[in-house]
Amino acid sequence: MKAVKIADNVYWVGAIDWGERDFHNFEIIRGTTYNAYLIVDEKVTLVDVVKHKFFGEMISRVKEVVDPGKIDYVIANHVETDHSGGLADIKRIAKDAVIVCSKRGKEGISKHFNTEGWEFKVVKTGDELKLGKKTLFFLEMTMLHWPDSMATYVKEDRLLFSNDAFGQHVASEERFDEELGVEEAVKFAKIYYANILMPLGNLIKKKLKEVEELGIQIDMIAPSHGVIWRNPGKIIDEYKKWADLVSENKLVIVYDTMWHSTEKIAKTISEGAASNGVRVRLFHVRKDSWSDILTEILDAKAVAIGAPTMHNTVFPPVAGFLTYLKGLRPKNKIGVAFGSYGWGGGATKEINKVLEELKFDVLEPLQIRFRPTQEELDMAFKLGEELAEKIKAL
Ligand code: FEO
Repeated sequence: MKAVKIADNVYWVGAIDWGERDFHNFEIIRGTTYNAYLIVDEKVTLVDVVKHKFFGEMISRVKEVVDPGKIDYVIANHVETDHSGGLADIKRIAKDAVIVCSKRGKEGISKHFNTEGWEFKVVKTGDELKLGKKTLFFLEMTMLHWPDSMATYVKEDRLLFSNDAFGQHVASEERFDEELGVEEAVKFAKIYYANILMPLGNLIKKKLKEVEELGIQIDMIAPSHGVIWRNPGKIIDEYKKWADLVSENKLVIVYDTMWHSTEKIAKTISEGAASNGVRVRLFHVRKDSWSDILTEILDAKAVAIGAPTMHNTVFPPVAGFLTYLKGLRPKNKIGVAFGSYGWGGGATKEINKVLEELKFDVLEPLQIRFRPTQEELDMAFKLGEELAEKIKAL
């Protein structure tokens, strides 16, 4: 396995996970990478490790460059085990390596591993560590993506090891954004942002401001998943846009159906909205990827969610989707519930409750008994038109 040089005496030594499709319920259609980086200086430093089962792949890349027993520091930017899973293994090989992490990182690592006899160096924002010719500067990234997260910046190379931030779940032989295609890399970064970082937009804005205030100049961003950004300005601009909730004249319709009545309503709302000049994306909760749905919701102005009623409540697959949606906390949207029912009803009420919890601008739900009549389909069409009017006015 080859190491890939990314800067003077800095190498990518990570692992490529071609086969993974489910990243704790986040569907990843093209696999992922776990990126670890090796800095060869007077002090040999490994930045992050990889998921445990990929440790062998990582170590074979390290061996291409240096004897892993000579590693002096392991920077643990984040405790989540896709990045720390190989820590105990690396400590068995590099017995004297010091683990460098945040205060919460040390707590988390100590809960995941038997750290008896391990030496830690706890760092906070502004702390520096001289490796020889290169100097590491640490930046806490609290909640991006866990409380312990931090980023590590190599001052001399203007290189930021950002860990999860700016990552993308995509497995590829290409290591750099322009090799994969910058737009392709942004596409995967958007899926990642929507499904992991969407609730953290305000923190991201603050962090980007802090980076500016600290005068951190960035030539390259090396995240812990996906390709390395040699065009850092591009992905930073995209992050600013997503965090600022910049949205399009777009309606996302998400539905499930038992006997096609809710489906008819969904498609008719779609026609009504499209006829009034907005883009529509229509998704079936059990047939389409939730990761794709949330990616479309990220920059949509309106969301319509439909379900039939089952056992006096919302159809279970839609209930699961609502839980996923609630956790990711999309903001600043118009919302409406719709659905069909046989006798008691209840689905639209449950959906509406979630839309209100999300503080969407919520329209009156459309609830239709059994199969929609032409008159009721006309109501669904009008609802689509009304949604389009509101979207264009926003
Ligand atoms: Fe890639 Fe929060 O772990």
